[in-house]
Amino acid sequence: MARGQRRTTIDRLAVESYLDARPEYRDLVTDDFRVHRSVFVDAGIFADEMVRIFGGTWVYLLHESEIPAPFDFQTRRVGRRPVIVTRDEDGEIHVLLNRCTHRGTLLCPVESGNQKRFQCAYHGWTFANSGELSGITYPDGYRSDFCKENYNLGRAPRVQSYRGFVFCSFNPDVETVEEWMGPARSVFDWAVDQTPNIKMIKASTMEYRGNWKLQNDNNGDMYHVPFTHRSTLTMTRQRHGEGKSLDHFKGDNSPMTVRDLGNGHKMIDQRPAIDSVWERARPIPGRETQAEQLITRIGEQRARQYLEYVGRAGVNLILYPNLYVGGNASILVYEPVTAHRTLVHSFVALLTDAPAEVNALRMRFEEDFINVGNRDDNEVFERLSSALEDTSQLAWIDVSRGWRTGFETSDADGAVSGPVTCETGIRASYVRWKELMSRPVRITASVLGERTTNCGS
Ligand code: FES
Ligand SMILES: [Fe+2]
Repeated sequence: MARGQRRTTIDRLAVESYLDARPEYRDLVTDDFRVHRSVFVDAGIFADEMVRIFGGTWVYLLHESEIPAPFDFQTRRVGRRPVIVTRDEDGEIHVLLNRCTHRGTLLCPVESGNQKRFQCAYHGWTFANSGELSGITYPDGYRSDFCKENYNLGRAPRVQSYRGFVFCSFNPDVETVEEWMGPARSVFDWAVDQTPNIKMIKASTMEYRGNWKLQNDNNGDMYHVPFTHRSTLTMTRQRHGEGKSLDHFKGDNSPMTVRDLGNGHKMIDQRPAIDSVWERARPIPGRETQAEQLITRIGEQRARQYLEYVGRAGVNLILYPNLYVGGNASILVYEPVTAHRTLVHSFVALLTDAPAEVNALRMRFEEDFINVGNRDDNEVFERLSSALEDTSQLAWIDVSRGWRTGFETSDADGAVSGPVTCETGIRASYVRWKELMSRPVRITASVLGERTTNCGS
């Protein structure tokens, strides 16, 4: 079999793909940190990413608070795979391929709900919310040895919830989520510890015409802030004076850092430059009145503690490939659609034990930067994408800023840190991209749940 081909064995119980090594992908990220343009525009590379990256490692799905009750479900994409994430009557979480095993129809077309069963719209086959095929329409028409258990929904072989955040992988050999997080785990824990009792709700979805990696890179990029967000900075300064959002980005002369946390994960640490998240946050409608109400109701000291949680600042933690965690545990989820199209879903973590004013402010602040800052970023992503698409004579982009300059230091936990303008975190992601795309990997989707018996050999 030629190098790079996919060998697929199909049996009645599982589909397994063994993807051979693709060493040629290593040439697309050079040792001096240039990245080939095809990584951002090529449809074939995108298709391979959906299997080797979004199948071969952990992908964030949802927070457990989005499916709190038995029979709750949400639909999601793991790369391009449609999945239904369900909670069964025993509280167990399943990640099921959203695809009828009869003739392949998308089984559940809605975003969320509570259902014991899913019935296919085409011929009416019915599946339990734990994935078992429970009913075949007019079953007498099937031969006597037709085995229903072989037609359960496909399922992700690995599902793990870490502190309420649910991840899955279609690679049965993948490490644990804790191992995958590595040094990023303590940062993730810090973010979750700020607001431990949360209910995650969807705030918005933005779409841009560009590759998914552009948003992933950008959340770990502070080099761009004074330029891409100049209009936002100017408007904020003119209307509200100094000391508000983003004007603490002052080139290399800043105590803030960017970190390569291993396995493609990265972070921006703004904490050294922020005394008060509340004071630094951009003004939003209702800010003063909500704060006054809160102080009146629960007193200045407790109100101040809560107000420090509302702004979207502190850390940007990006868990490769698809999750951004803000310092207040609100998140972004990147959903690749094509090589040239990406959805970015924003979720707000509401505090289940906080006064209503706090959650109202959390929502308003989350909407604020998304509607102002992300629009700036999206405009640049689209300019970048069309220029890369149309200039095939120039093969490379550069992400070397800070490398071999003496700017970067190795930390005790194995991470590498640099001044916040360095491309340290972006390099981390391309080192990981190269690794995941070039190595052999096994991808499976079994149709048998643990509670299902095999009928026949
Ligand atoms: S395709 Fe689903 S029942 Fe026929
Ligand atoms: Fe930005």
